[in-house]
Amino acid sequence: MTPFERAGMAILHRFDPETAHGLSLLALRSGLAPLPGVVSCARLATRIAGLDLPNPVGLAAGFDKNAVALPQLMRAGFGFLEVGAATPRAQEGNPKPRLWRLTEERAVINRFGFNNEGMEAITRRLAARPAGIPVGLNLGANKDSADRAADFATVLRHAGPHLDFATVNVSSPNTEKLRDLQGKEALAALLKGVIETRAALARPIPVFLKIAPDLNPAELEEIAEVALSSGIDGIVATNTTLSREGLKSADREQPGGLSGAPLFEKSTRILAQLSRLTAGKLPLIGVGGISSAEDAYEKIRAGASAVQVYSAMVYQGLSLVPEIARGLEALLARDGFANVAEAVGTGRERWL
Ligand code: FNR
Repeated sequence: MTPFERAGMAILHRFDPETAHGLSLLALRSGLAPLPGVVSCARLATRIAGLDLPNPVGLAAGFDKNAVALPQLMRAGFGFLEVGAATPRAQEGNPKPRLWRLTEERAVINRFGFNNEGMEAITRRLAARPAGIPVGLNLGANKDSADRAADFATVLRHAGPHLDFATVNVSSPNTEKLRDLQGKEALAALLKGVIETRAALARPIPVFLKIAPDLNPAELEEIAEVALSSGIDGIVATNTTLSREGLKSADREQPGGLSGAPLFEKSTRILAQLSRLTAGKLPLIGVGGISSAEDAYEKIRAGASAVQVYSAMVYQGLSLVPEIARGLEALLARDGFANVAEAVGTGRERWL
């Protein structure tokens, strides 16, 4: 972190977390954050599900829910971005407060509940973005929807022409019963609708499935089976957890999804199990608790072809992103890997 960024973070952390988040997006849009541009080199450039990424370090969903800072985020050092979640209709989300910093643990708890401006406003911003790194959208369902499974296809149909990829998010813990859609029959039916919608797009895009970390081995096996037979192009592992194991912060009992450092082990175990279950047939995107180049490298060695980051930026700022990308390059070089793909899964056994 630069001294300027350190001072900025100290100011932001005086505000309640949701206000601080809004201010950080505002600062980004106002040009207050120095941006490194695209970070890339031969060792970091990688291809996943047909997408060419300058580096494998992506922005996780939920940071820029409404796609308001795309031109800036596209030059912040990421190799790809995921914005959203977008639902068909705008919705308020849960009552405030709904975001907590667990500073001692470098963690975050949120129970936003898909607050967003809706697919039309978000798609307009996606359509207006400059050329650059791949940008995808996290698809969500309205809380009061009569047919939640259909909502995913509705958002994809509308936004699809302006996306590089889309992610089906059935793993948020903050919309009641949403996670039930991870069950075998419900998931197969939902993905069928999404894949048919994708096929009808003039330019079909890769579709990923994002899963929860709180799945037992039998549930995970079923998801892998459905994923492999459904025609989707990859799995994002994982979303936030309901677990509070080992936490001491006063706010640890707040309901919601936990992310950040305490999620690292749990999500990496799920990732490694998925890697074994899918046996290289589907690319995996590793997310959960990454706060350094070493963490990102560990996810790749556990089976991820690319990674995503969110909560660590709350504590370490946006300069963490190019730091992770460049650090990853050094770690790959140290261990004699010519590119990311060569390292994928080489440390999986340790996590099983
Ligand atoms: C999220 N995350 C999330 N995921 C998703 O699929 N759709 C969403 O809308 C959101 N929203 C959201 C809001 C907030 C405040 C947080 C902290 C997280 C989950 C996020 O994309 C990621 O999967 C987890 O946070 C784990 O990664 P980190 O944060 O530990 O790097």
